[in-house]
Amino acid sequence: MLTVHTVADLRAALEPHPDWTLVPTMGNLHAGHLGLIARARQENVPVVASIFVNRLQFGPNEDFDRYPRTLPHDAALLADAGCDLLFAPDEAEMYPQPQTFRVLPDPAIAGILDGAARPGHFEGVATVVMKLFQMVQPRHAVFGKKDYQQLLLIRRMVEQFALPITIIGLDTVRADDGLALSSRNGYLTPEERAQAPQLQAALRALAEDARSATAPEQIHLLEQQAMTRLDQLGWTPDYLTLRRRADLQPPTAQDLHRGTPCVALAAARLGRTRLIDNLEC
Ligand code: PAJ
Repeated sequence: MLTVHTVADLRAALEPHPDWTLVPTMGNLHAGHLGLIARARQENVPVVASIFVNRLQFGPNEDFDRYPRTLPHDAALLADAGCDLLFAPDEAEMYPQPQTFRVLPDPAIAGILDGAARPGHFEGVATVVMKLFQMVQPRHAVFGKKDYQQLLLIRRMVEQFALPITIIGLDTVRADDGLALSSRNGYLTPEERAQAPQLQAALRALAEDARSATAPEQIHLLEQQAMTRLDQLGWTPDYLTLRRRADLQPPTAQDLHRGTPCVALAAARLGRTRLIDNLEC
């Protein structure tokens, strides 16, 4: 696997092959990211991964400075996983000037759930992903369903800007106890790590309880109860909610009646660590 750090070297390395599949990441790779590489390889074209901790998508009081940066280890994992090319720009390469032109996502998607809890987050994500798409010009790109709202946002961006890229979503890779793998799991103390699967359990319980609901008010009550339970277990929930998969809006009575595909989504803080997860139902 070749590693490049500049756009010029990236373009030169991409040039011999017409089609690539891109896997964008912020590094500190785990089996979830490697699952994306494995999925990317199924397209039978060369795979390029990117590693860039994108300041634009972090809020002022978030973990940008302490976000783990483990490039040599990540590069070894990617090489083992069969990745062909790694693009790892530094900040001066990605943002040689302040990024004053931005991609402004629809607030109907970017202003709710994680977007409400993290103002500006999805603008930062959309902007860097658009920029990576321009730099790499891949034919396919793979994203995880772990970041469900992010995946929806990227799909909409690609549609609305008519980008010639197929977006592939991959199911969340989990630890044996159900915890969704995440670079942020490394922040957890051993006690918190033991407790962390409660988030996935709360989503399962909500999805299960919601199955017999016929009215949005019932769903709302179940969500409130589920948040209270998490709170009692020592979490600080941002949201725990059932939404339509297609647009992340609350299901109507008609949706519940028809069985419109839904997803339960949660974000909650455990100690200093903010975890997110979701469950299609
Ligand atoms: P990062 O958090 O590093 O995640 C990179 C990709 O890995 C995302 O598509 C994410 O959904 C996926 N992923 C993370 N954990 C996963 C798991 N347990 N199972 C399956 N996929 C998983 O998401 C970002 O970086 C950034 O926002 C980025 C898109 C790179 C833009 O900066």
